Amino acid sequence: MIKVAPSILSADFAAMGQAVENLEKWGADYVHCDVMDGRFVPNITFGMPMIKAIRKHTSLPLDVHLMIVNPEDYIEKFIDAGADIITFHPDSTNKTAECLATVKNAGLKCGLVLNPDKPLSMLTDYLDIVDEVIVMGVYAGFGGQKFLPQTLDKISQLKKLAKGKNLLIEMDGGATCENARSIENAGADILVAGSAVFGAENPAEAIRILGGK
Ligand code: DX5
Ligand code: ZN
Repeated sequence: MIKVAPSILSADFAAMGQAVENLEKWGADYVHCDVMDGRFVPNITFGMPMIKAIRKHTSLPLDVHLMIVNPEDYIEKFIDAGADIITFHPDSTNKTAECLATVKNAGLKCGLVLNPDKPLSMLTDYLDIVDEVIVMGVYAGFGGQKFLPQTLDKISQLKKLAKGKNLLIEMDGGATCENARSIENAGADILVAGSAVFGAENPAEAIRILGGK
């Protein structure tokens, strides 16, 4: 089995409270929150007010994925807004160690995210610090993109690198009910799915299939 973290990027932004309440009802394990600033990625989504707003609607862990430049300027604000896990791209800051320490010192889970073109070697110095590594299955910025199968190999390599370490591997981007098993078999512990859940006829059934239940 693999944990499922639906991304609210694909939810109805005009009814987000209801969307996260539904996720809990449908059996999701996390709520994946894609924060984009229009600079690190060519898209703008939402910030701290959205995290604060949905916090009141679910007890599921809020898995906040920062796709913003200089995350060091905002991490405390996302902690205060109610995040449980904060991940960011090491190529979005020159203060990676400080950002990870700020998240950990606040008692939250921290993680790093690699786009498909970024090598695992960018993680070497942090594998004993992070609680989670997100391997992107698409280039960060948009939901509904096609999964890049070459990222499966990256998950397997990371699985080997992470042997004996206390970290979870999350695959983010392009997950479907059809490719979920190969992502799980490659070694992922958590699967992000936005369009595969919110675009499904029966989202609860989609979450069940994605999780291998
Ligand atoms: C993309 C985001 C992903 C995306 C997933 O930048 O990080 O979380 O929303 O959406 P799907 O599952 O539709 O690819
Ligand atoms: Zn994401």
